[in-house]
Amino acid sequence: MDLMKKIWTHAQANKKKIVLPEGNEERNIAAAEKIHKLGLAYPLLVGNKEEIINKSKELDVDLSGVEIIDPNESENLTKYITAFYELRKKKGMTMEKAEKIVRDPLYFATMMVKLDDADGMVSGAIHTTGDLLRPGLQIIKTAPGVSVVSSFFIMQVPGSSYGEEGLLLFADCAVNPNPTEDQLAAIAIATAETAKKLCKMEPKVAMLSFSTMGSADNELVDKVRNATQKAQELRPDLDIDGELQLDAAIVKKVADQKAPESKVAGRANVLVFPDLQSGNIGYKLVQRFANAAAIGPICQGFAKPINDLSRGCSSDDIVNVVALTAVQAQTNI
Ligand code: ACO
Repeated sequence: MDLMKKIWTHAQANKKKIVLPEGNEERNIAAAEKIHKLGLAYPLLVGNKEEIINKSKELDVDLSGVEIIDPNESENLTKYITAFYELRKKKGMTMEKAEKIVRDPLYFATMMVKLDDADGMVSGAIHTTGDLLRPGLQIIKTAPGVSVVSSFFIMQVPGSSYGEEGLLLFADCAVNPNPTEDQLAAIAIATAETAKKLCKMEPKVAMLSFSTMGSADNELVDKVRNATQKAQELRPDLDIDGELQLDAAIVKKVADQKAPESKVAGRANVLVFPDLQSGNIGYKLVQRFANAAAIGPICQGFAKPINDLSRGCSSDDIVNVVALTAVQAQTNI
């Protein structure tokens, strides 16, 4: 069974409420019908009810059984405004500003998740990654014991033998522009945990660089080398190694030559990129040149799951990210 099928089965076993703040957008409307009919979650669309119903008719989409919530008509609006003000008043928030901000569907939906009126949120078909992350970081915040929110992509490369028969996790390709050594170590550990819990993989984590085990000397390489050492010290039970070039990380023959002692080299299934430029470019290269499926970005480290979509996403992509979010809500990943 492929990974997404397993995720669907998991999601269906214990349905969670997932809120879609871009409720009047066509792909979200179509996705809500599919999510409801497939029993993957209870989808909640946020937006103007009349507009959403009219659009669903134009699209020939059946929204019966799908909840629609208009922030301006919600009986919970005042509760969310007050709670948001309380959360952010030390940062200069006023009640007047909170009144306006929480009516924004993204903030409204984030408050629903914060106050347990929904189990998770998925957005990003029309908003940027930053638009989703900011309310998430301000309101939901990190899970206990987690220092940094980051993200990963599930990459499925057809016909490939790299990773687990073409299945690999890439991190961080969407959140932290220039992680510190400590943050990079935390990203490696978080992604290894995600690989184990969500994807049921035995993680082999490669800390990527343009150098393999000291072949180059540069401050950019030092950052990856130090982050690797920190991650290894924090979690000696995990297979995390570096610094490794991409080929040494995934190709056995190259690994035998460049890093013969490594338990990770040549068999990595989790690739940790040194910064967001390389991570974001890296996943898109594989997606486009290898015709790979790139599922994500999926966030990790939030106290409750909220996830982003690519603005080029299809309604099926939304369905998959909602299913993943529901499983994160079940398993506290
Ligand atoms: N983990 C935990 N907390 C964080 C993180 C993080 N990674 N980053 C910021 N914060 C916290 C801050 O401490 C702050 O908390 P506070 O307000 O309670 O003090 C809060 O989040 C907001 O921080 P800001 O500094 O206001 O936010 P910032 O301007 O740094 O934006 C953001 C954070 C949105 C994540 C930014 O780093 C960003 O834009 N990242 C890149 C997103 C992006 O464009 N990705 C590429 C496209 S995605 C794709 O192609 C699939």
